[in-house]
Amino acid sequence: MSHLLVTGGAGFIGSNFVHHVLATTDHTVTVLDALTYAGNRASLDGLPADRFTFVKGDITDVAVVDALVKDADAVVHYAAESHNDNSLDNPFPFVHTNLIGTYTLLEAVRKHGKRYHHISTDEVYGDLELDDPAKFTETTPYNPSSPYSSTKAGSDLLVRAWVRSFGVQATISNCSNNYGPYQHVEKFIPRQITNVIRGIRPKLYGAGENVRDWIHADDHSSAVLTILEKGTIGETYLIGADGEKNNKDVVELILTLMGQPADAYDHVTDRPGHDMRYAIDSTRLRTELGWAPSFQDFESGMKATIDWYRAHEAWWAPAKDKTEAFYASKGQ
Ligand code: NAD
Ligand code: DAU
Repeated sequence: MSHLLVTGGAGFIGSNFVHHVLATTDHTVTVLDALTYAGNRASLDGLPADRFTFVKGDITDVAVVDALVKDADAVVHYAAESHNDNSLDNPFPFVHTNLIGTYTLLEAVRKHGKRYHHISTDEVYGDLELDDPAKFTETTPYNPSSPYSSTKAGSDLLVRAWVRSFGVQATISNCSNNYGPYQHVEKFIPRQITNVIRGIRPKLYGAGENVRDWIHADDHSSAVLTILEKGTIGETYLIGADGEKNNKDVVELILTLMGQPADAYDHVTDRPGHDMRYAIDSTRLRTELGWAPSFQDFESGMKATIDWYRAHEAWWAPAKDKTEAFYASKGQ
C-alpha cells in the first residue's frame, strides 16, 4: 500500500485515475488541484473519506508542494493547462503551469527522494502525414507545434534532465487522445455530444480529415498504474490503444448514435497550425510491462460516454455557455 500525491486530480484524466486507483488498489490518494476553470471538485464526489484527501492549491506554490510531496510515497503529475485552442489565445498560463509547475514538483521530489511519474502527451512529437505508415515511438524526435505542446515538451525535458543530473526516480508517459467521463465541454467529443443534447449543430474544424488516436481514459489509468509498479526509472513509455479515427468519422458516429442524421454538422474555421495526425506505437509498454487496453470497441465506449453526458447535465451545464461563447468569438 502506498500514498499517492496526484496533481490535477480534479481534471478529466486525473479524476479518472483517482477513481481507478481507489477502485482497483489499496493505495491512499491526496489530490492537489488549483480548481482552474478545467477542474471540478464534483468529479471526485463519493470517494472513500478514509483513503482520499483533497487539497486546493497550486503546483507552482513551493510551500504547499513541499509539504505534500514530503508526505507521499509517489507523485503522479497530471496538472496542466491542457487545451490547444486556449494556448493559441493566451500562452502565458501554459508556460507558468506546465513549465514552472513541473519544475516546482521536480525540486520537491529531488529534495525528498520520492518516486515521480510524469504525465505527458503524444503531441510533443508533432504530427504525421495522413498517408505515412509510421507511428510515434519512444525514439521519435520532439517537434511540438502549439504553445500547449511545446510547454509539455519542455516539461518532459526538465524531467529527463532531473533524472540524469540529480538521479530523480522518474518515469514519463506520452499518451494519445483520451475520451470518457468527466471531460470538459471545450474538448472535441464532449463539445459535440453536449451540442447535440442542446440542439446545437456539431462543429468540425476545417475539412475534418485530421486523425486522432483515441483511447478510453480508464485504459490510460491502468497504463499509468502499470508504469508506476513495473516501469524502469528514467524511461519513457508511449500509451495508445490503436484507435486512429478522423474527426469527420467521429462526429458522424456521435450524430448517428444520438439519433440524428450523420451530416447534421457545420464546418467551421480551422485551428491555426492544426496537427494533421497522431498515432502511437505502444509496443514497448505492451511487451516489456505486459499492459493491454480493455476498451477495444470505440463505438461501445462512445455509447457509454454519450450516456454519461446525458445523465450528468448538472456536471457540464455550468461551463457550456461560456465555452460556446469563446468558440463563437473565433468563428468556431
Ligand atoms: P484538464 O484540463 O481536464 O485538467 C487539468 C487539471 O489541472 C484541472 O483540474 C486543473 O484545475 C488543474 N490545474 C491546472 N493548473 C494547475 C495548477 N497551476 N496547479 C494545480 N492544478 C492545476 O486536463 P486533462 O485533459 O485531464 O489532462 C491531464 C494531463 O494529461 C495533462 O498533463 C495533459 O497534458 C495530459 N494528457 C492529456 C490527454 C487528453 O487527451 N486530454 C492526452 C495525453 C496527455
Ligand atoms: O493527443 C493528446 C492531446 O489530445 C492532449 O495532449 C490534449 O491535452 C488534448 O486536449 C487533446 O488535444 P487535441 O487538440 O487533439 O484535442 P481536442 O479535443 O481539442 O481536438 C481533437 C480534434 O478535434 C482536433 O483535430 C481538433 C478537432 N476539433 C476540436 C474541437 C474542440 C474540431 O474539429 N471541432 C471542435 O469543436
